[in-house]
Amino acid sequence: MSDLLTVTGLHVDYPGVRAVHDVSFTLRRGEILGLVGESGSGKSSVCAALTRVLPAGARMAARAVRLGDQELTGLTDQEMRRLRATRIGVIPQRPMTSLSPVTPVLRQLRWHASDADLPDLLARTGLRAVLDRPRDYPHRFSGGQLQRLLILIAALARQPDLLIADEPTTTLDPTVQAQVLRLILDLRDRLGLGILYVTHDLAVVAQVCDRVGVMYGGRLVETGSVEQIFASPRHPYTQALLSALPGRAPTGSRLGRLTPGPVARQGCPFAPRCPVAMDVCAEQDPQPVLDVRCHHTEDSP
Ligand SMILES: Nc1ncnc2c1ncn2[C@@H]1O[C@H](COP(=O)(O)OP(=O)(O)OP(=O)(O)O)[C@@H](O)[C@H]1O
Ligand code: SF4
Ligand SMILES: [Mg+2]
Repeated sequence: MSDLLTVTGLHVDYPGVRAVHDVSFTLRRGEILGLVGESGSGKSSVCAALTRVLPAGARMAARAVRLGDQELTGLTDQEMRRLRATRIGVIPQRPMTSLSPVTPVLRQLRWHASDADLPDLLARTGLRAVLDRPRDYPHRFSGGQLQRLLILIAALARQPDLLIADEPTTTLDPTVQAQVLRLILDLRDRLGLGILYVTHDLAVVAQVCDRVGVMYGGRLVETGSVEQIFASPRHPYTQALLSALPGRAPTGSRLGRLTPGPVARQGCPFAPRCPVAMDVCAEQDPQPVLDVRCHHTEDSP
């Protein structure tokens, strides 16, 4: 698989808050990379920085962000807007707030896909009924239907290379969540998309992701294949996360939100909670070595 997105040294700051610090990763074509971590670890800030939709007052910097053979760091806001409309699709967390409430759903779909394409696109997503309800507004559809409509708009109508999904199933019940996950897997297989998939739920990671990146305190502390991360996590935070799984059997088990804990402002951010912290951990932020960011693996990779 060839590399689709390469992020090197990404930083995001809000006034007084260092939200993302020196994050680097690669996403390959046809791959789903899960981004996990507790609330506030910086997952949404990574997504917002990649699509340049950070709120006013936020600042981002990166050594490089490459999408295919295009370098994105030097692009103007207008060029980035064009890219978001073509090569990058975004699936938002709350479908209700992402569609216009005052325009019928079918008309909104026509903004993105031609009448010739629509029946086939809707059939693929199990949404043919939308054609029979041309006057229905978003509030007449269920959360799951709306989420699938947004995925349709993001992925099928525009045919992007990269899809960024920030907790797309958090507000859905388990049955509808399963439908949306199946659709995302289908899109990956059918279109060969690269998908960056943010979630709190390790069961979802086990179901849909090929690789996973674990964030803590704005750092990407470990990256690996889903098999490797679940079978032999190397970073102490990843180990703690997985040891909390009931029976260490993630598939099918629904976990709650990962409970946030203290983050050190100096040295390794996990030091206040780390069972194997050393003196150096309070002083120096470890550098990533072989996809793990921990002083222990620096010494013995
Ligand atoms: N608009 C903002 N202004 C100031 N600080 C912000 C803003 N958005 C996020 N932050 C802070 O940046 C850090 C990272 O937040 P972010 O939303 O990226 O985390 P997250 O991993 O997506 O969390 P969650 O799982 O709750 O969605 C947090 O400390 C958060 O409080
Ligand atoms: S660097 Fe130190 S505190 Fe941080 S995870 Fe590794 S051992 Fe623990
Ligand atoms: Mg978030």
